[in-house]
Amino acid sequence: MTDKCIITQDDRNTFLLQVRDVAHTARIGQALGKQCCPGDVLLLSGDLGAGKTTVTQSIAVGMEVSPDQYVTSPSFALMHEYRGRLPLYHMDFYRLAGEDDVEGAGLLEYIGGSGVAVIEWADRMGSLCPQNRLEIKITCTGETERLYTFIPYGASWLKRISCLFTEEFSD
Ligand SMILES: Nc1ncnc2c1ncn2[C@@H]1O[C@H](COP(=O)(O)OP(=O)(O)OP(=O)(O)O)[C@@H](O)[C@H]1O
Ligand SMILES: [Mg+2]
Repeated sequence: MTDKCIITQDDRNTFLLQVRDVAHTARIGQALGKQCCPGDVLLLSGDLGAGKTTVTQSIAVGMEVSPDQYVTSPSFALMHEYRGRLPLYHMDFYRLAGEDDVEGAGLLEYIGGSGVAVIEWADRMGSLCPQNRLEIKITCTGETERLYTFIPYGASWLKRISCLFTEEFSD
């Protein structure tokens, strides 16, 4: 592995980033968290242990969630709420079977409102996925290496991810 991360834009809407270790994940997460705006929805996918909760902890730092509000996996509670410069709604749909369960869990009202929703195992949402969203797929490529695939949907996320790739993620 070289010191530089691999960074490519596959096509107009797919951005790839090779992350080296947890510290690198932390930088990426914080940069994302700084960019978050009211109503944002970030959908995280990847195998068990890929690092969805870990990157959410750094998104929270970037959103100025204080360290005393420690971000932990919401897989049992389905959602944890944190207060930063915006509300952060961290959800985990692993235990839900599909769209009907997601709807029945009563969490849709937190998505796309005045806070930021970060959702693990968001594939369970199916057609309930909002139109404007940032999809982040995390693939394990080594003990601490992870391939991040960013797919922004909507002009706002496309612009922000393009800027992050040009200005923040490139070292
Ligand atoms: N580059 C990395 N980025 C994130 N986590 C990493 C990295 N390298 C190693 N890890 C480790 O991988 C683990 C990721 O666990 P985490 O709970 O974040 O995964 P998850 O995707 O949320 O899993 P689950 O599907 O069970 O919710 C942690 O123990 C973390 O320290
Ligand atoms: Mg998790």
